Amino acid sequence: MAIPKVEFNEEIICLKRLFDNVADGSDSHVGLKCGKVDRVYGKFLFGPVPQDRPITYASYVMSVDGKIAFEDNEVGPLIAKTNRFDPDGAFADFWVLNLLRAACDGIIIGSGTLIKEPDYSGSAYDPDLLDARLENGKPAAPWTVIVTTTGKNIPFGNPVFRCEEVPILINTSPEGFKNLEAEIPGEYYLINLAGSASDNETIAGLIAANHGKTAVAVTGEGWDTDSQELLKILRAMGMGKVLVESPTYCHHLMRKALLDEIFINTSCVFVGGQATGIGTLGSSFPSTDHPHSEILSIHMHSPHFVYTRHKMLYGAK
Ligand SMILES: NC(=O)c1ccc[n+]([C@@H]2O[C@H](COP(=O)([O-])OP(=O)(O)OC[C@H]3O[C@@H](n4cnc5c(N)ncnc54)[C@H](OP(=O)(O)O)[C@@H]3O)[C@@H](O)[C@H]2O)c1
Repeated sequence: MAIPKVEFNEEIICLKRLFDNVADGSDSHVGLKCGKVDRVYGKFLFGPVPQDRPITYASYVMSVDGKIAFEDNEVGPLIAKTNRFDPDGAFADFWVLNLLRAACDGIIIGSGTLIKEPDYSGSAYDPDLLDARLENGKPAAPWTVIVTTTGKNIPFGNPVFRCEEVPILINTSPEGFKNLEAEIPGEYYLINLAGSASDNETIAGLIAANHGKTAVAVTGEGWDTDSQELLKILRAMGMGKVLVESPTYCHHLMRKALLDEIFINTSCVFVGGQATGIGTLGSSFPSTDHPHSEILSIHMHSPHFVYTRHKMLYGAK
């Protein structure tokens, strides 16, 4: 299966930048060099890539009350698509996700989203952004990095597993690996080393020798994975920027102060109730110690959608 293509008309999705607080220093780099990005979104800069892990940025579309899915139909993008007042704004939301996918080297996703969004396919669909990826020296699709503590119930029948352009890495715990070994269809290989220069060479050799097979990284202890170790492995695999689409893992990375940025698109709808938000599966941060953010940019499409970019701030008490 090839990557599906979706045409995005620039005039329909064009965003107006209302606020700009993105650092433009000598060590900044352009997220994706592409004329369409300049015209639709404008300046799209990132800071330097750390030595020991990629830059991490998350992306969600949420209701005004912070919900990322309805309870009666848990497909996340419906938060945008059911906004009856601005269908083009929903399309622009989808394009921003396309942009963030096109600019990254890996997408972290959990089994929760893979199960609730059976059509999930972790790549950009805009042919202009796909061309830009290749021109920027990136492969057609980023790695899909599936996180699972239990190693169970990954929906291997989903189309993302049949797209030959999408390389797959599964990160699980030592106990989860026992389950994964029993359930994983097809061939896999283990990537568990990272740190020294020779480890990086070993990983590059493993990837080259195992084209088309699923990579598996076992980190942590017992049923727990180790996110710092995973990010170290992703960096050693050559990843400079990673998009976090798993809401639960996003919350987990915030807890570890390992999430750098979050892009939040607000669709002006209300959901209420116990519907899913970011981190609703985990425990709340206490009033005495919780992450903060600083807004880096604000875009609008109409009075029905706001597109914000936040830098995460940790340690403020
Ligand atoms: N509106 C949006 O932008 C948006 C974006 C994405 C998703 N969504 C929606 O959000 C809902 C899914 O939310 P979710 O939080 O359940 O999904 P998720 O984060 O994609 O998946 C949760 C699963 O990820 C694994 N996981 C979480 N933390 C982990 C860790 N530290 N280490 C290893 N594995 C870890 C666990 O898998 P195991 O149980 O296998 O251990 C967990 O059950 C869906 O309705 C989806 O459509 C909305």
